[in-house]
Amino acid sequence: MSQAVLILIKPDGLKKSLTGNILTRLSETKLEIVAARMVRVPKELAEEHYKHLKEKPFFSEIIKYLRGELHDRRKVMALVYWGKDAIKKCRELAGATNPEEAEPTSIRGSYGRITTSGVYENVIHVSSDEAEAQREIKLWFNPTEIIVDLYPTKDVVEEKKKVKVWA
Ligand code: CDP
Ligand code: MG
Repeated sequence: MSQAVLILIKPDGLKKSLTGNILTRLSETKLEIVAARMVRVPKELAEEHYKHLKEKPFFSEIIKYLRGELHDRRKVMALVYWGKDAIKKCRELAGATNPEEAEPTSIRGSYGRITTSGVYENVIHVSSDEAEAQREIKLWFNPTEIIVDLYPTKDVVEEKKKVKVWA
């Protein structure tokens, strides 16, 4: 059955110029990219994204990591891949969370490292299961930024909302 998965190219991946390489590796899956954007990650978004790890001793470090504070690159590339077994395929290509334990030819095994302070800089994020994928995709994207209908939507009328348009 078709599934969606959120992929983030984390700030270390961008700093190491791995974007093209990672997208090429992911294209091996034959999945379809249905959304993509560059994001300057607000603290609230990073904390919400990693909320299941809030009690961990490394929580504040991974928030800094995702926001680019460890790499002087205040951005991540967020993508949604869609297709059969998307989560399993992408997690396999990504490799284990700990880059030293990851399959050497996987993305994390090839390009990840453990910092001296113990953070796993592992280059990409991949949603862990379908429920997490849905939660994460809804955090990182609006319905109109995704080119397929993944989840139910509703129409709301927003009045007097200030928006930026081209001058
Ligand atoms: O990203 P993944 O789903 O494989 O792992 P996670 O358990 O959801 O952890 C999120 C992120 O926290 C990891 O990708 C690592 O960057 C970081 N982490 C860490 O630095 N040290 C750990 N012991 C566990 C996770
Ligand atoms: Mg995870």
